[in-house]
Formats: sequence, structure tokens, C-alpha cells
Amino acid sequence: MIWHPMTIQRSENSLIRIERGEGEFIYTDKGAKIIDAISSWWTVIHGHNHPHIMDAIRKQTSELDHVIFAGFTHPKAELLARKILNSTKLNNEFSFSKVFFSDNGSNAIEIALKIALQFFRNRNKKTDHKRKSFVRFSLSYHGDSIGAMSVGGDSVFTRIFRDLAFPTKEFQSPNCVRCPYQLKPESCSTECLDDFRKSMEQVSEDIVAVILEPLVSGANGMVFHSDRYLREVRRITQDYGILLILDEVFTGMYRTGSWYAFQKATIKPDIVCLAKGLTGGTLPLALTLTTDEIYSEFDSPDPNKAFFHGHTMSGNPLACAAAIASMEILEESGANQVKSLETKLNLFGNNLLKRLGDRIRDFRVLGAIAAFEVEVELGRDEYLNPVGAKIRKACLDNGVLIRPLGNTVYITPPYNIAEQSLETVFTVLTNVLEKEFTH
Ligand SMILES: Cc1ncc(COP(=O)(O)O)c(C=O)c1O
Repeated sequence: MIWHPMTIQRSENSLIRIERGEGEFIYTDKGAKIIDAISSWWTVIHGHNHPHIMDAIRKQTSELDHVIFAGFTHPKAELLARKILNSTKLNNEFSFSKVFFSDNGSNAIEIALKIALQFFRNRNKKTDHKRKSFVRFSLSYHGDSIGAMSVGGDSVFTRIFRDLAFPTKEFQSPNCVRCPYQLKPESCSTECLDDFRKSMEQVSEDIVAVILEPLVSGANGMVFHSDRYLREVRRITQDYGILLILDEVFTGMYRTGSWYAFQKATIKPDIVCLAKGLTGGTLPLALTLTTDEIYSEFDSPDPNKAFFHGHTMSGNPLACAAAIASMEILEESGANQVKSLETKLNLFGNNLLKRLGDRIRDFRVLGAIAAFEVEVELGRDEYLNPVGAKIRKACLDNGVLIRPLGNTVYITPPYNIAEQSLETVFTVLTNVLEKEFTH
């Protein structure tokens, strides 16, 4: 009856029916209690059914359900936009001035790409008309719509549709945990950007924007890169007048320990996309933020310069109320919770390495994310590597929900997960890996 997302239908003939969620737990119709160690696709950052967010939604239902967002506005969207712009400050200065509303991460990306291209069309300086292409990185994932796939890396998610993709220039993604140049942070001069640097010398006038997931390439393997890399990308894009779009759909809302990853790297991008944890996983909402410099090219009496893009449920007041409540929780406890979680994840890594030694590699932690690779034979480090499904099933049988990306195992639990639950996740994962890989 239902066609489930990202699902090999035949392998899912025993779908698990969830009737209730509370905190880090989801409860099945058979009475089983499962720890949601990946925050339900990285969304429920405060756990399920957080009372503060649910109260805010309930309160909003008695005020305004929805209103057309063209030609109309409402207090919750205004308050959310203000709070978001405040949260993006860098060294006490605003990074952005405009917030465009939509309802999922892929849309936030499509909007960013379209704004970037139209910015150059509207500005129409000498060579602006030449800019038609985007720079993407090999391990990036930006969503499943055609535009978002066009700027994503090659993977099982995008491969079939590559013929439909619009023009892009691909460069190798960085990997600062397993540097392909075998460099250490002290000796690194971002050699992995050499190709990009050289290429921009020749074709920068064709490029609209560079798009990347800052600090962590998520869905294509939880691959980390350094602040320094990000700063260098910003420097190069600025030198050539290319826009920098950061996809913070995953990394935003304190995932890496700051409101946004770009603040950790102390850079100001031109456009940022947010979704996932924005409403604490309660309702669909996404935002695309831009600077005044970009917006000023759309702020014109010429109707052809307007941005004619909109989604029916843009600015939904219930979702805005949820996002405001989620931000209030983050303001109060986001930084401390993620810091404490980061410490515990690191300790887990030390113990796991002691127990499993060279059967796992590249254990890494950033904020609320821990990831590592399981050493598998055949060398197929890919999403479809069966080892992922095997580990997932074994963990689930022991009450822990994870979704490895092939042989990359990761957890990103709710920031407020109870100590005891986190210990259970660590124990189950360690035992499963030990059992699976001792013979
Ligand atoms: C970095 C990133 N960008 C964009 C998206 C797409 O978001 P959505 O699934 O809400 O369309 C995702 C989803 O996983 C993501 O991880």
C-alpha cells in the first residue's frame, strides 16, 4: 500500500509499526522500546514529543493554522526569521538579512541554487551572463529533487538520473580524517584544493556558486573536513566573485557544537540552507538565508527581477511555532548538551577501539555526530554494502535504531539523550560489532 522512502521494498516486508514516541524512545505496536540513535533521520534533536515544542504547536493550533504566504505574513514567521538571523551572527555581526521559507531540505537547496543563478542574471554585470555552472563535490548529498541531485556526488541516490542533471564541475571531496595526500593538520596547505584553485583560474567566470556541506559530508559517508578547508574555499570563491552556498540541512542547529558549522570556521557564506532539526523533527520546515548583497539585486521595481518561487505550505505557522520552541531549547541548553555528548562519544570511541582494534577504522566525532568504518572484505565502501543492513538489523533486534551508510556506521542521537540510553547504544553497538567480526 505505502511506497516507503529510501527503501528496498522487498527487504522491508517486516516494517516496524511505531505507535508512540517520547524522548529518545520510539515504541512499537508490539510493546517494544527502541532507542532512536539517529534522531529519526537527524531531525528529533530534542527527542520525540518534546513537551515544550508540542505545547507550542498546540497553542498555535488555537491561533492560526495556515495562511497564504504571498502578500500575507504572520507573527510566528516574523519572530522565527528574527531569531534565525540573530542565531547566525558571527563576531556579533549579522551574517544574513533575508529568510526564504520552504518545507524540506531539497527545496531549500533548489531555492539557493535558483537565487544564486538569478542574482547574476539580475545584476547583469559585464560577464555575469556567462555564469551557468555550479561546483559540486564528489561526496556531497543535497537532496533528491533534480536540482539537488545535480549538485550532489555520484551515488546510488543520483546515478540513474545523471543525464537529467544541469551543468556542474565536480571536484574531489576533502577527507581530513583519512587525507588522500597523507597530510597532518600541521603540514596541510589544503593540497586537496589544488585542482579547484587551478580550475578556477581558467573557468571562474562560468561558475555561479560552489555548494558544499560544511565540515561533514553526511549521507555519503559522514566524511569530515577541517575549518581550514572551509576558510580556503571561502577565500577562493571570494577572490573570483563566486557565491558560496552552504548546505547546513544536517549540520545546522548545533549539530557540530555551534548554531551553524560556518560559525565554527568563522566564515560568512552567501547563502545557507536549513531544515532537518529546525522544528526538532516535529513538522516540515526549511529555510534559505541570504545576504543583503544578494537580496538587493531582487529588490527592484522591475517585476522580472522578482524571485518567482513558492511552495504552497511556505511559512506554515504551526511549523514556525515549533521551530521557535526548538530554538528556545537550543538557546537554553544546546551548547552544553552537545559538548557533553561530544565528550561521551569520544570516550565511546576510545573504548570501541580498545575492544575492536583494527576491525574498525577512522573513528571520528564532531559535536553530536560519531562515525567510523567497519573493515570489510571486498573493499566495497558503498551505501549498498550488505554489512550495513546486517549491523542495522542486529542493533534493532537489541532495541537500538541506527542506519549505517554501507560500511560507515554512525550515530547522531538526540542532544538530550539520557546517559543510560547512550550507554545502552554503546553497549549494543560494541557487542554487535564484536559478534559480527570476531570470526
Ligand atoms: C545535507 C543535506 N542536504 C539536503 C538534504 C535533503 O533534505 P530533505 O530530505 O528534507 O529533502 C539532506 C537529507 O538528508 C541532507 O542531509
